[in-house]
Amino acid sequence: MPSEENPFIPGKPASATPEFEEPQCPQGPLGSKPDQSGPRPTTPTGADSADGQTEQAQQGEYHTTAQGGRLPDTNHSLKAGARGPVLLQDHHLREKITHFDHERIPERVVHARGAAAHGTFVSYGTASTVTKAGFLQPEAETEVFTRFSTVVGSRGSPDVARDTRGFATKFYTSEGVFDLVGNNFPVFFIQDAMKFPDIVHAAKPHPDREIPQAQSAHDTFWDFVSLHTEATHHTMWQMSDRAIPRSLRMMEGFGVNTFRLENAAGETSLVKFHWKPENGVHSLLWEEAQLTNGFDPDFHRRDLADAIEAGAYPRWELGLQVMPDSEDETFEGIDLLDPTKLIPEELAPVTSVGMLTLDRNPENYFAETEQVAFHPGHLVPGIDVTNDPLLQGRLFSYLDTQMTRLGGPNFSELPINRPRCPVNDMFRDGMHQTAVHQGVAPYKPNSLDGGNPFSSKGEHALIDVPQPVAESVKERRASASFDDHFSQARLFWLSLTGIERQHLAEAFIFELGKCYEETIRQREVKNLAAIDRGLCETVAEGLGLDVPQTTEQPAADVTASPALSQISGRWPVAGRKVGLVASANTPIEQITVVRKAVGDVGMVPLLIAPRGGRLGEGNTAVAVERTYSTMRSVEFDAVVLAGGIETSTAIDVLISEAWRHLKPIATCDDAEHLLEEPGIGLDDPGIFCGGGPEEVTKQLIAALAEHRTWARAEM
Ligand code: HEM
Repeated sequence: MPSEENPFIPGKPASATPEFEEPQCPQGPLGSKPDQSGPRPTTPTGADSADGQTEQAQQGEYHTTAQGGRLPDTNHSLKAGARGPVLLQDHHLREKITHFDHERIPERVVHARGAAAHGTFVSYGTASTVTKAGFLQPEAETEVFTRFSTVVGSRGSPDVARDTRGFATKFYTSEGVFDLVGNNFPVFFIQDAMKFPDIVHAAKPHPDREIPQAQSAHDTFWDFVSLHTEATHHTMWQMSDRAIPRSLRMMEGFGVNTFRLENAAGETSLVKFHWKPENGVHSLLWEEAQLTNGFDPDFHRRDLADAIEAGAYPRWELGLQVMPDSEDETFEGIDLLDPTKLIPEELAPVTSVGMLTLDRNPENYFAETEQVAFHPGHLVPGIDVTNDPLLQGRLFSYLDTQMTRLGGPNFSELPINRPRCPVNDMFRDGMHQTAVHQGVAPYKPNSLDGGNPFSSKGEHALIDVPQPVAESVKERRASASFDDHFSQARLFWLSLTGIERQHLAEAFIFELGKCYEETIRQREVKNLAAIDRGLCETVAEGLGLDVPQTTEQPAADVTASPALSQISGRWPVAGRKVGLVASANTPIEQITVVRKAVGDVGMVPLLIAPRGGRLGEGNTAVAVERTYSTMRSVEFDAVVLAGGIETSTAIDVLISEAWRHLKPIATCDDAEHLLEEPGIGLDDPGIFCGGGPEEVTKQLIAALAEHRTWARAEM
């Protein structure tokens, strides 16, 4: 109430007197006036605080309107009599239908199909010599959210399309959000962002019939890449096994573009980011991928979620290739600003700097996986961009597209995008503003809000490395060092093993074989001659084309990079799936022994039987997870056939596909007879017969560590 001491003065300026000069040191805002208060802090669903996840979820047991009024009936609209017309006054009906009508948001223009998980990144501290980024200092632990995606398909497209995969990680660091927005290939189709709409228009379904979905096997894609030869290296990766990963957990990730790092002493270096999966890099076979897309279009997202649920947490080491920040931004003759080039690990080894573990599945797909917004310009102190013209365009594109996709400029306030450090950006208002800002002076300089917010002086401030810009003229032109489009395509080819090369050539034959225009096939085959004569001849023969007469010769001085091959070594088998076929005639001990051996190494046994229900009696009975009609070989990495199974078409198909797809197969007891009909030899590589159930299962697990029985591919 106004009084003599505190008279009512309309427009009383502030709760404290502002300083005469612009304030120079950080201090709190002057504060709200006594008559002011924002809304009581309430979660989107009416709870008092947003401390926990349950407060963000729906509240209470009763069905309510969006305003919290309890509803007695949601099954009948309000009508003029049971058979009469619906009344306009039925607010519940209109609110329910209206909200439903607006449930969809635009899908991403690229990378629309995705799956994601939460996790933690633990720094080894080994990067502190090259960057001052806080999350890469010793023992730093940072929460992360990683989204994997395909590029071309729409949101409902199948998971195992032949495509590049996105691998985007949001680090919620104490210095702000850092997004590492990479792919599972180290190179890109184009050298300049200006071409991005072109490559995407070419790869997307044809604009007339909108087919094919999520595929590059069509005319417009091959028309573009055969004419635009800077795409050649990426196209080689796209035709390789890397484009059909066995699992999102078994993919490498690459930042692709070169970044500039700065350490505490102000020294800079040029760096490429790598993710190395603990489970190794493994792929599907093409026939397997095609079957999988029909049998389980959600194969990759199911695999990721199942593995996390089973406790087989996927892990990747973050690695850095560190190159000197030289004036020409080139390393060993390779232009670091050209995103169609990689740096072979044999020339610049990858140093491990930390471990990413994904250990939590999202609670709600839309709120998290769909609404997350990555941006290669979300940087932290110690990490800066380079002049790579692709990266420069990306810096514009993501924010721009997210404005439309997420409906306005405030999407960084969505729970999944919120930084985990103080934000005082002076941005105000706009669609879907959820912050309740205080003060009157979202501008600088000001004295009315105490000069807040203050610019950081040095520590924890974002950096713009004062990189000299060469004397130049304004022009639309690429550096001459970007002209070589073939030698690294050849490098990739030479780095692959025989079976990988065979798969790659077969992929070209398949994809070009799907093009209607022979000119396009001929043009691409001519390009292949500049990569490798043998590859060109194999593909031409497969397509029934003449080998082109060309003066273009493959580069002579290319050295292979064995690190690019994915067939070598032995890898953890955790999270792999083993199909165990049994029947009511199988002794229950056999089932128990195999399941235990499989489970002991973190793999998932799935019991298959002719019918559903349980096998065995009483306490030892085991639930049947797949029946003959719900299973298909592509779901399993290996198959164990228990005793007591009768021959059937379903089992023949299972075994012959598993054999053709180079999967280990083990038999117990009399199950050897099942191999006769599909014509499989007991001595074939990767076939384990004749021992007890535990012994053959262990042999099968040991074989699985090499991913597939590669020796069988030679047969
Ligand atoms: C090095 C090359 C590139 C890589 C590694 C890359 C990677 C990615 C990834 C991983 C995503 C999915 C992010 C998510 O999960 O939400 C994405 C989305 C996207 N990318 Fe790129 N991209 C590259 C080049 C470009 C270029 C050159 C442009 C445009 C000039 C571009 C525009 C977009 C757009 C518009 C989205 C959708 C973003 C959204 O709606 O949230 N990308 N990119």
